[in-house]
Amino acid sequence: MANKTVTRIGVLTSGGDAPGMNAAIRAVVRSAKYYNLEVYGIFRGYEGLIQNDIKKLENRDVAYILERGGTFLKSARSQEFRTSEGRKTAYENLKSHGIDALVVIGGDGSLTGAHLFYKEFGIPSIGLPGTIDNDLSGTDSTIGFDTACNTAIEAIDKIRDTASSHDRLFFVEVMGRDAGFIAVNAGIGSGAAATLIPERKMPVESLIERLKSRAKAKKQSNIVIVAEGGKSGGALEISKKVKKFLPTYDIRVTILGHLQRGGSPTSFDRLLASKLGVAAVEGLIHGKEDVMAGVINNKIVYTPIKRAIVDDKEVDEDDFRVAKILSQ
Ligand code: F6P
Repeated sequence: MANKTVTRIGVLTSGGDAPGMNAAIRAVVRSAKYYNLEVYGIFRGYEGLIQNDIKKLENRDVAYILERGGTFLKSARSQEFRTSEGRKTAYENLKSHGIDALVVIGGDGSLTGAHLFYKEFGIPSIGLPGTIDNDLSGTDSTIGFDTACNTAIEAIDKIRDTASSHDRLFFVEVMGRDAGFIAVNAGIGSGAAATLIPERKMPVESLIERLKSRAKAKKQSNIVIVAEGGKSGGALEISKKVKKFLPTYDIRVTILGHLQRGGSPTSFDRLLASKLGVAAVEGLIHGKEDVMAGVINNKIVYTPIKRAIVDDKEVDEDDFRVAKILSQ
């Protein structure tokens, strides 16, 4: 039975797109319909909310999107929503459509926006963690992270063919903004010689030592994963430093970039996004507001948004240890 105060839900995707966002939108729409609620799609994130780019959604509108990457609602990083005038316009547009609850699918910036909007206008909102970076607390994994890791590993496997055919040293830069989750996962999954992440210092000297000992052990190829966002620079900068110490090495750099953001979501991300989409609607029905729905130890958990966006989710110590042990 629906909570009396929630009758019409608005759903939007915001910030960087992530594989599985479509599956989450579909789950929000279909579960809202299941509970006899109306759903409105807000296009281009908060930008579309300010510009009143809002359309009623039916079950048929979300057919055949489960398997597609990106977001059919489109996304944006809205500067205007950062201003109080922008948020006021957004609120008036919501009211004009009779929308009385919001589901925001996005990363920390998008959920920060949802929290602020809730504080100012009291619209019940539930956030869903939609980002490849996995840098939100309150969930073991964010929607899109698993797919991004799989994409990175597939690409690195291909780079490995060239690395071993030519005895080259490759530096591969992966995304993650200022978090090393994708890097550690890809480092273990691709058998990297070393994984450099913003959260841990690894002086160039230690990297050189690692590479030299691998040379002694007659390792045929070397792939070093570098997470973007590190203080010592990206893959290009680090490769230049290493070249000074190891001038005879044939070094190449690949920046994987946005290819990690696209593509069809893995089964893990489809399942996660579908569960969370339903959890968002059921959470609103049960009076939850200003929380993010996540999955921890296979259970749905609602965490206050202001807690989920605190930048304190740590790369798993064990994962980092495993990466180190296996890279000798
Ligand atoms: O947050 C997702 C992400 O892909 C980060 O990993 C990356 O740093 C950033 O977005 C890139 O943003 P943009 O697509 O705006 O260049």
